[in-house]
Amino acid sequence: MKYSATVPTRMQAWTYRRYGPPDVLQREELPVPTPGPKDILVRVHATTVNRTDCGFRSAEYVISRLFSGLFRPKRPVLGCEFAGEVVAVGEQVDRFKVGDKVFGYDDQRFGAYAEYMVTAADGGAALLPQGWSYPEAAPLTEGIHYAWCDLKAADIGPGSRVLVYGATGAIGSGAVQLAVSLGAEVTAVCTTPHVERIKALGAHKVIDRNTTDFRTEPGSFDLVFDAVGKSRFKHCRHLLTPNGCYISTELGPRSENVFLAMVGGLRKGPRVRFPLPTISQADVEHFRSMAEAGTLRPLIDRVVGFKELVEATRYVETGQKIGNVVVTIG
Ligand SMILES: NC(=O)c1ccc[n+]([C@@H]2O[C@H](COP(=O)([O-])OP(=O)(O)OC[C@H]3O[C@@H](n4cnc5c(N)ncnc54)[C@H](OP(=O)(O)O)[C@@H]3O)[C@@H](O)[C@H]2O)c1
Repeated sequence: MKYSATVPTRMQAWTYRRYGPPDVLQREELPVPTPGPKDILVRVHATTVNRTDCGFRSAEYVISRLFSGLFRPKRPVLGCEFAGEVVAVGEQVDRFKVGDKVFGYDDQRFGAYAEYMVTAADGGAALLPQGWSYPEAAPLTEGIHYAWCDLKAADIGPGSRVLVYGATGAIGSGAVQLAVSLGAEVTAVCTTPHVERIKALGAHKVIDRNTTDFRTEPGSFDLVFDAVGKSRFKHCRHLLTPNGCYISTELGPRSENVFLAMVGGLRKGPRVRFPLPTISQADVEHFRSMAEAGTLRPLIDRVVGFKELVEATRYVETGQKIGNVVVTIG
């Protein structure tokens, strides 16, 4: 094990010992975690409050408890997105060294709501994009990898026509940029104050949902991607080409999106897909190279300090954040 000389034994963290509203989060002093032979220990400089962390904390969808603990959380520290400095590496790690600046995603062990976290060296970590700060890089994975999985599931490529509903969310703003990078023609939907911001992400057309119902617009899309889970397939079907698909980030009323995805292959015409999200090292490296090339930049709503994390969580749960809420630590 190679350690930086400056690693303390104790650290500050936000923990949750039971499922519930943002108030279940509490400040605690914990031992700094010990990396295993294939892990790195990261001094976390920035994390985000995102919908994944909120989903696990509230356990709104009971199914999340199968991963996080049936009756109470198995891992008390949330925080799946991180950016920080490697301060220790396990003996089998050759991908990173002490002093490297990294960013990434870990929804297996979480842990970024703390001054130090352990993550697998061959998991979702990569070197910080050249010239990027920790707060800029922290939101490069959560919403963006969901968007990436969904665009891949819909087989989006050059010339595809994509409509992104909820283009200002972490997932939606990522989807606009990723679809443009794949060569798709992108129509995005958001409210009046954000139209210019979404055009700046590369959307070819922006529909202002304050003045226009996107479902009444002419269109023939290969993908209608509802990045905020507010629509229904039956109201969007007419916008799709015969081989087109509808993907939503939510289950829909009575989980209809899962059911429709299962039976969709039995019927002709547009179908629903409900891909299970995954993230690989190659995905994170891809996001890094796009960031360095200037083709991917997460929208940041606000940057707050560590002590404001609970307040930031309440804000994220209003469903009104624009892109991402970043938390700086230390
Ligand atoms: N359970 C989980 O683990 C999990 C994980 C990740 C994501 N998700 C789901 O994925 C969705 C997106 O998450 P996110 O973090 O990308 O974004 P988000 O915070 O949910 O989305 C915020 C944006 O949605 C737009 N919006 C709000 N209400 C809307 C409505 N009725 N119709 C259309 N747009 C609306 C707003 O922009 P405008 O005002 O400009 O339209 C706002 O900027 C959420 O539904 C979330 O629950 C769930």
